[in-house]
Amino acid sequence: MNIDEITSYCRRRGLVFPTAEIYGNYSGFYDYGPVGVEISNNIKNLWWKTFVQSREDVTGINGSIITHPKVWEASGHIASFTDPLTECAKCHKRWRADHVISDALKKPIEGLKIEELTKLIQKNNIKCPDCKGALGVVQNFNQMFTTNVGAVEANTAYLRPETAQSIFVNYKPVMDSTRMKPPFGIAQIGKAFRNEISPRNFLFRLREFEQMEIEYFIQKKQLSECAYFDEFKDLKVNVLSEKEQHKGITTNSIMTISKALKEGVFNSEWHAYWTAIFYKWYLNLGVNPENLRVRQHVKEELSHYSAGTVDIEYNYPMGWKELQGVADRTTYDLTQHELFSKEKLEYFDEETRKKEILYVAAEPSVSVERIFLTLLFEGLKEEKERTVLKIHPLLAPYKIGIFPLVNKDALPVKAREVFKELSAEYNCFYDDSGSIGRRYRRQDEIGTPYCITIDFDTIKDNAATLRDRDTMKQERVKIKDLKEIIRKKLIQ
Ligand code: GLY
Repeated sequence: MNIDEITSYCRRRGLVFPTAEIYGNYSGFYDYGPVGVEISNNIKNLWWKTFVQSREDVTGINGSIITHPKVWEASGHIASFTDPLTECAKCHKRWRADHVISDALKKPIEGLKIEELTKLIQKNNIKCPDCKGALGVVQNFNQMFTTNVGAVEANTAYLRPETAQSIFVNYKPVMDSTRMKPPFGIAQIGKAFRNEISPRNFLFRLREFEQMEIEYFIQKKQLSECAYFDEFKDLKVNVLSEKEQHKGITTNSIMTISKALKEGVFNSEWHAYWTAIFYKWYLNLGVNPENLRVRQHVKEELSHYSAGTVDIEYNYPMGWKELQGVADRTTYDLTQHELFSKEKLEYFDEETRKKEILYVAAEPSVSVERIFLTLLFEGLKEEKERTVLKIHPLLAPYKIGIFPLVNKDALPVKAREVFKELSAEYNCFYDDSGSIGRRYRRQDEIGTPYCITIDFDTIKDNAATLRDRDTMKQERVKIKDLKEIIRKKLIQ
């Protein structure tokens, strides 16, 4: 399915709506509907369970969206968090210069300076995509949204453009309260905001989105001491290295994580490990291995804080694009905050009696919306007789659809009894309208992995029909066994 089909499916089936659409288009902002909010919550809960609660070495925080404005001075975002902008001289529409050039030349444009982008526009005579007017000199446009705090207009504050800084500024109280020792990570899920020049591709590029990030802190001497590396060293991944991109190669090579580390794709074992564990997680969620790759950033496109970044990219209908970034942020952020706040942020090593600023060997960073969109591209299928969302059962908005075969006699009472019992554990959907076939189709379309039909025999034998979304097979099961059967199926 293409992005327009996915967008209209999301609108129709209650996953995602354009925000306040009764007032017209408001680009870059979307609202989750009844089905979408469940999927989004499931993505966040699974991420948190997997990468925070199931690990001894990661703990979590939840920072405020507006924080002290000094944070953004120290982090470098006020000076450097910009996108290249070009304006049409005729219709005055403003465009993201690298996107317009990349669309016109039909190739990716990464990491060029604004002067180089201006030259490309002039040399290739690239015009405004809307009115064909001349495009102006490319300028830097800061992506942070500003606001005012308190009754004084000049008190400018910023809506955070990344959740990462909430982690860095909470590094000290987290250390003081938890006594974590490196290597360890601090994780956060929360909203971030970017005033994108031209948001596009539905949930792919938004102005408001939800990030899930981990800052993983180590001592510099631990760079090659990743205790979890062996578990992933033989994982085969598709790779597009910096070297190959410099040679103009765009095809992926398949290699193991350890070979990619040797080839310089990753900055350290930790950097490789944190990429591999997420790559594997996406595979486990059902993403087709052919649609995933690790692309190393070329030097010119690195963010101002990064000494090396790889993206886990997905092969979207609009091409290979970042699903998740994994950056090596070095000691950059804590050093900057120490400098600007004048607070000591060093770690004291009790063994060596030495102090050092901890090193962020990996920052896995992804938005809920990109995972959401990726899972729709992977899972939404038009089959002969139905549209079905083959999403991983753990992420499915409803786990079980519960239907009385007919809406009379003792059947609805029994069906509601089953609903009450199962909904204590699983999110269930009760549906008593239309034919059973229609009800199955409706659940298929929103990815409900199991449906239970209560029929006349149920009243006598306390058994019901359990139907599987993917195989469409039906089996007769005892109602008392349902919870256990579904539990087993969900952890398969
Ligand atoms: N913290 C990394 C990012 O927002 O891209």
